[in-house]
Amino acid sequence: MNVTVIGTGYVGTVTGACLAYLGHRVTCVDTNPAKIEKLRAGISPIFEPGLEELMALAKTRGELEFSTDVSTCVPSSDVIFIAVGTPPLPSGEANLAFLESAARSIGSAMHGSRYVVVVNKSTVPVGCGNLVEALVREGIREANHLSESAIRFGVASNPEFLREGSAILDSLYPDRIVIGAEEEHAFKVMRELYRPLVAQDFPAPSFCPRPETLQPVSLVTTTLTSAEMIKYSANAFLALKIGFANEIANICERVGADVVEVTTGIGLDKRIGSRFLNAGIGWGGSCFGKDVLSLLHTANEYGYHARILEASIAVNQMQRLLVIQKLQEKLFILKGRTIGLLGLAFKPDTDDLRDAPALQIAERLLKMGARVRVYDPIAMSECKRQNPDLRVTYCDAALCVGDGADAVVLITEWAEFGNLDLSALAERMIRPVLIDGRNQFQPAAAVAAGFDYTGIGRSTVRTRKRTASPLNES
Ligand code: UGA
Repeated sequence: MNVTVIGTGYVGTVTGACLAYLGHRVTCVDTNPAKIEKLRAGISPIFEPGLEELMALAKTRGELEFSTDVSTCVPSSDVIFIAVGTPPLPSGEANLAFLESAARSIGSAMHGSRYVVVVNKSTVPVGCGNLVEALVREGIREANHLSESAIRFGVASNPEFLREGSAILDSLYPDRIVIGAEEEHAFKVMRELYRPLVAQDFPAPSFCPRPETLQPVSLVTTTLTSAEMIKYSANAFLALKIGFANEIANICERVGADVVEVTTGIGLDKRIGSRFLNAGIGWGGSCFGKDVLSLLHTANEYGYHARILEASIAVNQMQRLLVIQKLQEKLFILKGRTIGLLGLAFKPDTDDLRDAPALQIAERLLKMGARVRVYDPIAMSECKRQNPDLRVTYCDAALCVGDGADAVVLITEWAEFGNLDLSALAERMIRPVLIDGRNQFQPAAAVAAGFDYTGIGRSTVRTRKRTASPLNES
């Protein structure tokens, strides 16, 4: 099928490359010429493991082209994805300016030569499917070259569930595909587009093998509004699940339990499930915060006070700054102390710093008069570019954050940090205080390496009784 994808951010680039890999003819469009030049040269505009390899393979299995001109792609398209950014406004509402301009430009370029489905893949507030339809119609009217009735198009909502860092895995082997539409013809086109994903009859790329545990991929068809609600509810639930684990962690600390043991114990219940129960310094990134706020805002518009969503944001905000409290408990005074931070990106395998807890923690420490040393395997140059005034010291290697430090805090659980020589790190420090913000280290191993170790929700005092001596020994 002929596919156009508007927007070459995370979602657009990965969607375009995956659809081309499945055999479709795809053109990805962006208004930024520099980005398009890079993409044409095979260079991904984002750090995402496997994406450049997939882009190269996609060109051999389907077609993958890049353009700055949407008007040349629209007339021959069967499906047009809108995958532009919808960043939050200060009010918490999503900024729809890019979406509106994309929908209008699609309308004004339509020729009426074939039926086309305009698919919303951007995360947009409930009701945007109808907005897209209205804007496409406005575009048709503005271009004024054909009567509106001569142009046949359908609108669909097809939310994405990919995670940064594992975007290709999530896209090629999804748990489900959700399509919201109001017309049978739109469903038919979308079913045909995704047939290879449902059938899973494509060869797996060598760098992203098909998971042995992959279940049959369900294609769920819904109304437009339900599809939009599914996207928000999924992210809100995942954020809530993490927040719940964090709240349990805080109670574990007080009663002397270990949250890792507790979440393992509850996660084995299939009704709960073990994923997204890792307690730590809370969630960040461009999605959870924005989507929970946007859903809260929608609920408010309808006169509903969504208390659970509100609490979820509050718990996460508090959780982030918990490491400062833990540092104060260990060091008392933070002024003049040197604190090393391991990790800047909001999660491993990405250089994305949007709503990254590391930045908020670094800023708070600096404000309190501490000196901050940081290291991240990938995100340091991006951090320097985005925050030229952040007065932290960038280190060349993970161990260097410990040089002269009073404490080290693990912020992002990069695999590299799991293999760190903890004894070597402790030796470089003035005080061997380790705050493990992601419970990545074994407490016993950290203590054996000479650290005063504190995790999140992990009782450091073992309260198990010694085994009573057998009677016949007395
Ligand atoms: C999230 C969703 O997981 C995707 O399904 C969705 O498509 C995407 O948002 C989106 O809406 O675009 P993403 O933000 O890329 O994906 O990353 P996640 O892996 O979900 O992690 C989000 C945050 O939660 C990270 O800061 C991570 O460190 C934190 N997290 C995750 C925890 O603190 N504990 C966990 O158990 C899991």
